[in-house]
Amino acid sequence: MSDVATMRGRPSLLMTPGPTRVPARVLDAAHWVVHHRTADFSAALAETLTRLRPFFGASTADVLPVHATGRAAMEGAIANFFAPGDTVVACCNGKFGEMWAGFAESYGLDVRRVSENWKESVDPSEVEQVLRGPDRVRAVLCCHSDTSTGVLNPIEDIARVARTHDALVMVDGISSVGGVPFRFDDWDLDFAVTSSQKCLMSSPGLAFAVVGARAWSAVARSPFPKNYLSFSAIRKTLAGEQPETPGTTPVSLVLQVLEALRMHAEEGMDSVFARHQAMADHAAARADALGFGRQCPGLQQRSPTLTALTPPEGVAPKWLRTRVREMGIEIAVGMGHFAGAGVRIGHMGDIRMADVERTMDAIEAALA
Ligand SMILES: Cc1ncc(COP(=O)(O)O)c(C=O)c1O
Repeated sequence: MSDVATMRGRPSLLMTPGPTRVPARVLDAAHWVVHHRTADFSAALAETLTRLRPFFGASTADVLPVHATGRAAMEGAIANFFAPGDTVVACCNGKFGEMWAGFAESYGLDVRRVSENWKESVDPSEVEQVLRGPDRVRAVLCCHSDTSTGVLNPIEDIARVARTHDALVMVDGISSVGGVPFRFDDWDLDFAVTSSQKCLMSSPGLAFAVVGARAWSAVARSPFPKNYLSFSAIRKTLAGEQPETPGTTPVSLVLQVLEALRMHAEEGMDSVFARHQAMADHAAARADALGFGRQCPGLQQRSPTLTALTPPEGVAPKWLRTRVREMGIEIAVGMGHFAGAGVRIGHMGDIRMADVERTMDAIEAALA
């Protein structure tokens, strides 16, 4: 029997920073396939996008479904808004900040990497230094909650600096939107992205991009080919009398996200955020008591959606992950610079305090 078949009988508790557990109610909502060109499905799609707005903090900007995981919407942002040779600043204090930089470089943009120390939060003054330089900077690319380090970057401060220099602000909210307050309007952002498999507690495969007016104006000067990832094409089909997306919509994923957002609404957005913060506080307190260190002790603010740790002396991350896996719980090890040194515990989406407790108990038992 394959591992996957075994897991069907007894699913692991997914305490990874994505994908996260999908509640039974969300799975049930997508029990059968519906046709995507029907009034009923269009209504469900429209409701999904409306329910996402408060989690992005976006009242009027376009919310676009992108039929792929989050990286596709990030790549789409580069392909839709820029031209080769454009100068952009990329905040690189983690794997996913670096991912923005890598995508932009691959399209021939002139990328100025700042805040490259993974152990520190982004320093807005480093961004400002480039913005004050001789070259016209088109945009600042940054990650809100970098899932590789557990940082929660100061987007509001970064955006304030970018705004005074007329640069677009483009934010990866893939492990924050839905679990952490995110304020597209108040922070005056231009582009943001999230995806289905994290705080939106659905299966992987669907991203959502928010595009503001200034970003739309940049589309006209972008010469890159845009087909599957054309944001204008997505906006056009959504604007029809019956909102649709181009091609075959991943209907099951839309229905899952809709149900997840209804659950978030029943719990209340502020309660969802408070639950995430409480789980982060609890995981950190238990980890301290067990002799763990913080993977990045100097961060100014930590993401409430994951806890990134260094195990006590002599405990290898992969060994710990295997022991915990044997107890039916999946945690993650460090990424990039922290591969071999860190463990990451995700607590987002449908994860509850009892799950955090069970995970920390399992870690304690493994160490014992
Ligand atoms: C912060 C962040 N950005 C981007 C990505 C990539 O997104 P996806 O895997 O949905 O393509 C991830 C995935 O883990 C992430 O955590």
